[in-house]
Amino acid sequence: MTLQLTPWQSPPSQPELTAEEVHLWRFPLTSQKPLEHLLNEEEQKRAQRLLIPDKARAFVVARARLRQILASYLDLDPQTLCFTYGQSGKPALVGIADAPAFNLAHSGNWGVCAVGKEGEVGVDIETLDRELDYARLAKRFFSTAENEWLQKCPLHRRRRLFFRIWTRKEAWLKGKGGGFSDPDQDIGPTHLAGSYTYDGTWWLRSFPVNRHCLATLAVSQKFSLLQRWNG
Ligand SMILES: CC(C)(COP(=O)(O)OP(=O)(O)OC[C@H]1O[C@@H](n2cnc3c(N)ncnc32)[C@H](O)[C@@H]1OP(=O)(O)O)[C@@H](O)C(=O)NCCC(=O)NCCS
Repeated sequence: MTLQLTPWQSPPSQPELTAEEVHLWRFPLTSQKPLEHLLNEEEQKRAQRLLIPDKARAFVVARARLRQILASYLDLDPQTLCFTYGQSGKPALVGIADAPAFNLAHSGNWGVCAVGKEGEVGVDIETLDRELDYARLAKRFFSTAENEWLQKCPLHRRRRLFFRIWTRKEAWLKGKGGGFSDPDQDIGPTHLAGSYTYDGTWWLRSFPVNRHCLATLAVSQKFSLLQRWNG
């Protein structure tokens, strides 16, 4: 199945989702505007518990942008949205009929948010850190097949492949909702080769968000159009 991918572009004020579409938003986490007021009390307390100022700022901006993005589909005020959390912490909207599926990720100064009409979505973004000891992390977190795939790659392209496999695993785990506690952490051979893959349940698509960040989107519904919005 082919996937139509739009360029990153400005969104309409009230975006519309069809069952054939998934939307992916990217946004910087460097907003100078005060956004705390968009968060509820529990979220504000969570931000206050984050001792590293950059982490706290990123959390506040990402949560506020998430609320604004979801509210734009629903024609509601961002502050009125209520979230419920799955067993491993995956957020979902509560109290809204036909609420869209969504997932958020942030890394460094960038956030991404995936929104789908049906099924589940997961997204991950990673900053392409040139200093990261990726070989150590691969040994610790990747399966034998994933490590073999990485080793087969020429050395000069291996770091980038590591981030690709990493974001694929994370996006898929986040789509399923289990995160670290999911007993099945192996994405399997189908999702190692190619940038748009399907294993019978999950579609995965990887792409650069900008020169420094790579993202993967995981979707459990059939879709043919990926709209990409600058948030
Ligand atoms: C939360 C988790 C799912 C991702 O954490 P992370 O990479 O630090 O953070 P990301 O930026 O990708 O995503 C964070 C967002 O995901 C969402 N989230 C939280 N728990 C989630 C879950 N279980 N499933 C899906 N989404 C989740 C939240 O919106 C969260 O944003 P918030 O912290 O602002 O509330 C992590 O706990 C986890 O379990 N990851 C799997 C890690 C793993 O196994 N890695 C090894 C192989 S790559």
